[in-house]
Amino acid sequence: MFAKPASAERTTVLNTGRLPPPLVQRLEARYHFLDLATATDRAAFLAEHGPAVQAVVTSAPFGLDQPTLAALPQVQVISSFGVGLDKLPLAAAAARGIAVGYTPDVLNDCVADLGFGLLLDTLRRVTSADRFLRAGHWAAGQVPPLSRRVSGARLGIVGFGRIGQTIARRASGFDMDVRYHTRRPVADTALVHEPSLLALARWCDVLMVIVAGGPGTHHLINTEVLDALGPQSFLVNVARGSVVDEQALVLALQQGRIAGAGLDVFEAEPHVPPELLAMDQVVLQPHVASATQETRAAMAQRVWDNLDRFLTTGQLVSAAPLPVGH
Ligand code: NAP
Ligand code: 8YV
Repeated sequence: MFAKPASAERTTVLNTGRLPPPLVQRLEARYHFLDLATATDRAAFLAEHGPAVQAVVTSAPFGLDQPTLAALPQVQVISSFGVGLDKLPLAAAAARGIAVGYTPDVLNDCVADLGFGLLLDTLRRVTSADRFLRAGHWAAGQVPPLSRRVSGARLGIVGFGRIGQTIARRASGFDMDVRYHTRRPVADTALVHEPSLLALARWCDVLMVIVAGGPGTHHLINTEVLDALGPQSFLVNVARGSVVDEQALVLALQQGRIAGAGLDVFEAEPHVPPELLAMDQVVLQPHVASATQETRAAMAQRVWDNLDRFLTTGQLVSAAPLPVGH
């Protein structure tokens, strides 16, 4: 399916993302390794080195843009650190017969754990109460506001793939009633598929967003969905910032039209709207859902294995799904 792979030792590998240092050291030791982040002038760097590049490594939030790919005429494989495909030029890669590898499954548990951690914190006001105590309010005789019971609450999951289904298993331990929304119902689950996102938002106490990013889900969570969620209910987003209309979310929170939010991802990362920073009913994380030592090591190994397997056999361990029409 792909052209005969370059021999691994001579391969020139370009990094366009942000990778864990041990993985970078490993890549440097084996390949002719270039890092686009070191370029003071990207265009000049690509003009000089682009023609020699045979493989790209990157990370999901950085990906690879189409103009950069166009400057790499010999590239045969892209190996990405992460499961999200929204920043990868999948159609252009498929059109050129370039293999694309990613790191599904190895991060399901930790992303689900962090999603559930945000759910627990947002409803039970864990970090809010921590701030309350540290500020001396408890010692001064005050009591914090009451929080919201998690056990038995209704959880609506938007996106029910590898990670969404892992989150649902966490929820069963809290006796939560779970329904999910996707475009197509999932086989092999007893959980209720809700074809209408608005109906799911109206029904649930917590809406957990874990869909794929990209144009198909851009601002899927908009004013209408937030209003369907309502003033007693919460939003958690561990998918992509682009899935939530952040301005609409800020307004809904400011006006008390939803009760609170737990967010790991933002529209213009690493920039977070200052209005959110000021809100006590919001829990914020710097895109760390997969960021445990164990999971990041497993992701790094998969990036390595995808590259190594491709360069020695022409196959990937985890190939990204081909875009529609390819
Ligand atoms: P997955 O197995 O491919 O699942 C994606 C789910 O999204 C599927 O259930 C899919 O169902 C649904 N979906 C896609 N488009 C939709 C739409 N327009 N409306 C409703 N549902 C839609 O992916 P995964 O491994 O669970 O990962 C999900 C996403 O989580 C990744 O793409 C990534 O962006 C994000 N993520 C974030 C972090 C983090 O650090 N915060 C870490 C890992 C992953 P249908 O196709 O049937 O609609
Ligand atoms: C990132 C992610 O890869 O897998 C994804 O899609 O968003 C994360 O796991 C991670 O933050 C490293 O950049």
